[in-house]
Amino acid sequence: MQTDSSFTFVLFGGTGDLSMRKILPALYEAHRAGLLAETGKIVAVARHEDNRDAYLAWVNEHVKPHVSKNGLDEAAWTSFLERVLYVKLDLSRPEDFGVLRDAVGTLPGIRVFYLATGPSLFVPICRALASVGLNENARIVLEKPLGYDLRSSNAINDAVGEIFAEGQIYRIDHYLGKEPVQNLLALRFGNALFEPLWRREWVESIQITIAEELGVEGRGDFYDNTGALRDMVQNHLLQLLSIIAMEPPHSMDADAVRDEKLRVLRSLKPIDPRDISKVAVRGQYHAGGIRGTPVPAYSTEKGVKPDSTTETFVALKVEIENWRWAGVPFFLRTGKRLADRVAEIVVNFRPVPHSALGATALRPGANRLVIRLQPNETIRLYCLAKQPGEGMNLASVHLDLAFDQFFREGQMEAYQRLLLDVISGRLALFVRRDEQEAAWRWVEPILGEWANSNKPPKPYAAGTWGPAASSAMLAQHGTCWLEEEN
Ligand code: BG6
Repeated sequence: MQTDSSFTFVLFGGTGDLSMRKILPALYEAHRAGLLAETGKIVAVARHEDNRDAYLAWVNEHVKPHVSKNGLDEAAWTSFLERVLYVKLDLSRPEDFGVLRDAVGTLPGIRVFYLATGPSLFVPICRALASVGLNENARIVLEKPLGYDLRSSNAINDAVGEIFAEGQIYRIDHYLGKEPVQNLLALRFGNALFEPLWRREWVESIQITIAEELGVEGRGDFYDNTGALRDMVQNHLLQLLSIIAMEPPHSMDADAVRDEKLRVLRSLKPIDPRDISKVAVRGQYHAGGIRGTPVPAYSTEKGVKPDSTTETFVALKVEIENWRWAGVPFFLRTGKRLADRVAEIVVNFRPVPHSALGATALRPGANRLVIRLQPNETIRLYCLAKQPGEGMNLASVHLDLAFDQFFREGQMEAYQRLLLDVISGRLALFVRRDEQEAAWRWVEPILGEWANSNKPPKPYAAGTWGPAASSAMLAQHGTCWLEEEN
């Protein structure tokens, strides 16, 4: 569906990495698919290029290669570039924002300001926009990281909140824009089959993994001051957890969905600092190999302090204190340089209460739902079946649902969906301030404890599944990570 009215999409950080890899390619795809209103304009703001021609040359050189991998349509690319305008501006000089007002003030439709910049510029940019009256009829998009802890995130939210109302603020968590994450809502609330079982009476434990093979990819400086807990857990993993655990919302209205997610985040059992070593594992990779290719230790990456204690791996045991989930452990894990790139949710159902069919009916490999979010979106339901032949021997079998076999086209990249949502004013897939606060509040004791601890993160070899302590934590609960089962 095409965005129905005109818009001006102002991209701060127009020559940055995110603009190059994600935002401009996503806008091009939306344009190519005919999803952007004809009159919509994209105004890139940066200081490196002198004028529009120089900026378009930069786009051709740097953005086109990221677009081409999906097969470039030259005619669409040319017409896409016609939408792109350029404003040269030094963001540290609020007194210069008049130039931006002159460039966009008379363009029709809603204004979207996308801040693909470091968080230290969020507040100065918002204030400068207000000083030239550009905060009216506008939406503002804030990229993560939004703050470093609860206090700094509140400081940004307070300052931005003085200029933009909450309904104008779009906080990006790109995981919420992923097709399979959307599909979790469809799976849970579109089917009667799973919902009655989706509770403590039937679920023994849940695992959520986001594993990456990549390392810090030239972002050593940023990452070393951030770590996996802030980079992945506070946002992506807790958002996934809240979607898996939330109550059915009464509608897909933005606040109906976000209210339910918030309830989950507020029901997370607070972590007692004395228990951290039992419920949280932090690791850091040393040298190893990913699929046979040697990779260096984290501590030798560019921008990383040689004696860094920043975690590149986190595993957590989380509990939700409500009637649906009391006592069910949720195991969360994420890490860089792990054995595989996979994002997956594993729902382990309880075995049958009494096995008339013998001990194999109690085996853990059955009664399980595995929802793979990436790289290939699949849902696999494991059951037990009788092995053919004599006797009653059971074996684990599975029903497979591979989405690309059902829907051969129409998949949309996360950023494309999110940008279209901003332009169209749909807030459901963006993080509300209270959700963000609840997530920070919950991770803070872990951050505090780790910052004060004199124990370094546990080492793991690049290309493995993280430190042994991660497996040991699950073993204490009589379970193991999915890949350890065979
Ligand atoms: C980002 C993190 O938010 O998500 C990165 O900052 C991480 O460190 C990335 O690599 C993972 O996203 P995806 O979509 O590749 O799973």
